[in-house]
Amino acid sequence: MAQSQIQIFDTTLRDGEQVPGCKLNTEQKLIIAAQLEKLGVDVIEAGFPISSPGDFKSVEAISEIVKNATVCGLTRAVKKDIEVAAEALKKAKRPRIHTGIGTSDSHIKYKFNSNRSEIITRAFDAVSYAKSFVEDVEFYAEDAGRTDNEYLARVCEAAIKAGATVLNIPDTTGYCLPSEYGAKIKYLMENVKGIEKAILSCHCHNDLGLATANSIEGVIHGARQIECTINGLGERAGNTALEEVVMILKQHPYLNLNTNINTREIYATSQLVSKHMGVYTQPNKAIVGSNAFAHSSGIHQDGMIKNRETYEIIDPKEVGVTDSAIVLTARSGRAALAYRAKKIGYDLTKLQLDDIYASFLNFADKKKEVEDQDIHFIIENSHVYAQIMSA
Ligand code: KIV
Ligand code: ZN
Repeated sequence: MAQSQIQIFDTTLRDGEQVPGCKLNTEQKLIIAAQLEKLGVDVIEAGFPISSPGDFKSVEAISEIVKNATVCGLTRAVKKDIEVAAEALKKAKRPRIHTGIGTSDSHIKYKFNSNRSEIITRAFDAVSYAKSFVEDVEFYAEDAGRTDNEYLARVCEAAIKAGATVLNIPDTTGYCLPSEYGAKIKYLMENVKGIEKAILSCHCHNDLGLATANSIEGVIHGARQIECTINGLGERAGNTALEEVVMILKQHPYLNLNTNINTREIYATSQLVSKHMGVYTQPNKAIVGSNAFAHSSGIHQDGMIKNRETYEIIDPKEVGVTDSAIVLTARSGRAALAYRAKKIGYDLTKLQLDDIYASFLNFADKKKEVEDQDIHFIIENSHVYAQIMSA
């Protein structure tokens, strides 16, 4: 099967920044944009230029510094939005305007007080107008997850006729099941006239914890771009996490779906975004959480010490994490204690280990995690250790 390239569209600076309290200033956005380039993302959605003078300035400044990635600005299907985005993107080497409109019956009725055919006209007009400024125009059908497939296909056809290069199929409310979202992409691949002139993009939200699974189903069924954010930050429960989709594709090479991401930059990028946005990553977060490569049960630690692959499917170095961690707790066994003791300079005999292990368990029952200085203390205060060392 031929290898296919999946474009990674990072929207940390737009959808990610919509998280309450995560507002970034231009300087912070520039630092993150530079790191996103180092990470190797294909598209950086830099902001929503008409939304505020600060966002306009950030998109303009990012357009100036980004060398390789496409820089994208969001708009509604509104002429003024498109003009302002085009202005902010003027200095970008590869500018993209991302314009669109809600297509579900709920959006058509309650947001626009409109009807299906009027929405198709507005979609066509918005893409045509954006095309008069830039070659690369992405169209989003907001709430596509809850949009009837047959109607969605007609909207996509209109956007392609107007010149859209990318068709974004957002599961805006995070409603779809993976099978449903995959079927939607398959339906569009098979039923949209002119689909070969554009690529489909997955933009999934995490309201039911399915954003990553939905994006993967999307690319399995023919989409060629994933829209995602670092650490999965984004509106409400967040967006698809970049680190998750990238590592899923990497760890499942038989899917023949590749990205341009330099995975060794993942951890550094996660830390940088977390620091600037002031949002700590949960310890059990896949790939980038502090426990993602930490092993605490005795059975697992024993296996890890014998061979890392017994309990890890990713080499932590592949995502820029220095090493796996053997965390010493009351659930740890002798193997883990001996391993950690050796790391800090004690090559223990069996007799010494038996003696120290009992003290270690007493200590560990009182303390949640036993640190290196605690091990020094336990060993240096052990009778058996002292006797053997003085013999
Ligand atoms: O979730 C969504 O539908 C969006 C669009 C604006 C692309 O973020
Ligand atoms: Zn979104």
